[in-house]
Amino acid sequence: MTGMNVPFFRADLAGHELEYIREVLESGWLTSGKRVQEFEKLFADATGAGHAIAVNSCTAALHLACEASGVGPGSEVLVPSLTFTATAEVVEYLGGTVRLVDVDLTTGLLTPDLLTQALDAHPSISCVMPVHFAGAPCRMLGTTQDPGIVKICQSRGISIVEDAAHAFPARYADGKPVGSSIGTTACCFSFYANKTITTGEGGMVTTNDDAVAERMRRMRLHGIDRSAWDRHTRIGAAWEYDVIAAGYKYNLTDIAAAIGIAQLERAEEFRNARARLVEAYRERLGGIDAIRLPAADQASNHHAWHLFVIRVDPASGIDRNQLIEKINDQGIGTSVHYKPLHRMTHWSKTALIEPSGCPNTDDWFEHCLSLPLFPSMTADEFESVCTAVENAVANCLAGAPRI
Ligand SMILES: Cc1ncc(COP(=O)(O)O)c(C=O)c1O
Repeated sequence: MTGMNVPFFRADLAGHELEYIREVLESGWLTSGKRVQEFEKLFADATGAGHAIAVNSCTAALHLACEASGVGPGSEVLVPSLTFTATAEVVEYLGGTVRLVDVDLTTGLLTPDLLTQALDAHPSISCVMPVHFAGAPCRMLGTTQDPGIVKICQSRGISIVEDAAHAFPARYADGKPVGSSIGTTACCFSFYANKTITTGEGGMVTTNDDAVAERMRRMRLHGIDRSAWDRHTRIGAAWEYDVIAAGYKYNLTDIAAAIGIAQLERAEEFRNARARLVEAYRERLGGIDAIRLPAADQASNHHAWHLFVIRVDPASGIDRNQLIEKINDQGIGTSVHYKPLHRMTHWSKTALIEPSGCPNTDDWFEHCLSLPLFPSMTADEFESVCTAVENAVANCLAGAPRI
């Protein structure tokens, strides 16, 4: 966000990014090649996944994963309403129907209970897309008495496509990395410019299922059975290939992969820096009665901390929009995650939803705002954000005119 003293996000590209980009440019091979393969291998190692397939966005990853898991005309797919439109739109690309579901009010996540209620009421649901919102993994794993999302879906033959756009690097409850494929079809990550690591635009989809991986690899590049790199580096006629389906053009370039490799080298360092900022925010803002900070049990190292979402306490009487304005007026960038899908024109017409709606999602949206959270935030910038929040809250409470 320009014109802000503290932007909502600032990417840190001070590692090996330029060096690796230069190598790619000097190599003369710009599209998907050696660097993409290396990025995929490193990402598979980082997540413990059997396969990592690089694509040019998380949206592409979600589309490929849903396609490979059999979503098609007539499919009903469960999507939390508290998400970005990309999660839902890929279902419609494939001719399926989106059913929106509510989230937990303290975490913004789909829970096993909410999932069970939805599946009991709608046995036609064939796929579920849990969103690891803000970088906090949903409760995928559980116990025999208290099953998590994976077991609940497996017992009913329902596939799972994880939206982990916010959740690299994060860990499930058992400590395994998100994306390590714990019984889901696939897990989708975003490397969009403001994500926890970036390639400008880009994404990755991980899976442990060999057949799903092969389908996604081919569909990522026009449904062709051999990649361009493969054709030019292996023995046999470079021109020879087959087309096994009408695929997509979702491959990542080596230029983007070069940035991704450099970012991946620092992913844990970035995560730790964000986690430290979260602790500092807790200490500094925890005493303000009018706002609620993210649930304290989310403070573990399992959280990717992509977003720091605070919520206005409804009892304070503070208007969320006014609070945002007063923070922005002091030069601090903020955002809102999310205006629910069921409040969007398109989804309000096409998505299925309970007659009672998604009350927790509405409550979340009406009171939430996201504060800046990025690894290169300086102590002065942190101080400016906290002072701005304190001033804005005090000002709203006093019902004073705009700062
Ligand atoms: C929850 C969620 N899912 C999917 C996406 C889509 O990611 P991309 O921009 O890489 O396609 C985003 C992007 O912001 C997101 O926040």
